[in-house]
Amino acid sequence: MSRDSKAAFYALAAPLMRVNAYLYRTFRAPRRTSMKVHLGPGQKNYLNGWINVDANMFSAKCDLWVDLRQRLPFINETVAAFYSHHVIEHLPDLDGHFRDVFRCLKPGGVYRVGGPNGDASIDRFLKGDIDWFSTFPDRHNSCGGRLDNYIMCRGEHLHLLTNNYLTELLTTAGFQVIGLYLPTKETSNVELFGQCLATEWESTFDAPHTIIIEALKP
Ligand SMILES: C[S@@+](CC[C@H](N)C(=O)[O-])C[C@H]1O[C@@H](n2cnc3c(N)ncnc32)[C@H](O)[C@@H]1O
Repeated sequence: MSRDSKAAFYALAAPLMRVNAYLYRTFRAPRRTSMKVHLGPGQKNYLNGWINVDANMFSAKCDLWVDLRQRLPFINETVAAFYSHHVIEHLPDLDGHFRDVFRCLKPGGVYRVGGPNGDASIDRFLKGDIDWFSTFPDRHNSCGGRLDNYIMCRGEHLHLLTNNYLTELLTTAGFQVIGLYLPTKETSNVELFGQCLATEWESTFDAPHTIIIEALKP
C-alpha cells in the first residue's frame, strides 16, 4: 500500500475502528480472564490462541479490527500477556501506548515488545558495516542511505527504538523491565511467549536487527 493510500485508508477507517472497539469493549471483551493479545500480527504471524489485533484488514490476518493509535478495547487488568513485533515504531504516541498496555495487563502480566534495533543500527553505521543493512524499502548504496531505510522506512516509522529510551518509557508507565533479549529467540517466560519465538526472524545474533524487551506489571 502506498503512503497516500494508507493515509486515506486510516482517515476513512479510523472512525469505524473506533466504533468497532467500542462495541467490542462494551459487549464482548472478557471481564475475568487471562487472555493473550498480539498487536499487529500482519499476514504471516497470526498466533493461534491469542487475540490478534490489527488495523489493516487487507494485508493482515486478525481477530479484532482495531486502530492501535486509539485506546485499546480491553477491560482493565484482564490481559496476561501482550506481544508486539515491529509495530510500535508506527505509533505516534509511544508513551500513551505503554500506559494503555499497562492498564489492560493484570498484575504479574508481561509485555514482550520488539522493533528495529536503534542501538545496533547506529553501531553498524559507525563501523561502516553496509552489509548489515538491507536495501528495503529503497535501493541505497551508502551506509547512511541504508541507515535511513532501516530507521525511518521511507517515513513509515515514527520512532528510533533504543534500549534506554524503551526502558525510560516502560518504567515511566509503571513497568519493571525484566529482560532485554539480544538476540531474539529468548524469553523470560516460555509458557507465555514460547509460541512467539518461532515467528521471529532474527538472523544476526551478534548485532540483532530487532531489539526485544520484556516488561512486567508488578
Ligand atoms: C511491519 S508489520 C509487522 C508484522 C509482524 N508483527 C511481523 O513482525 O512481521 C506492522 C503491522 O502493524 C500493523 N499496524 C501498524 N499500525 C497500526 C495501527 N495504527 N493500528 C493497528 N495495526 C497497525 C500493520 O497493519 C502491520 O500488520
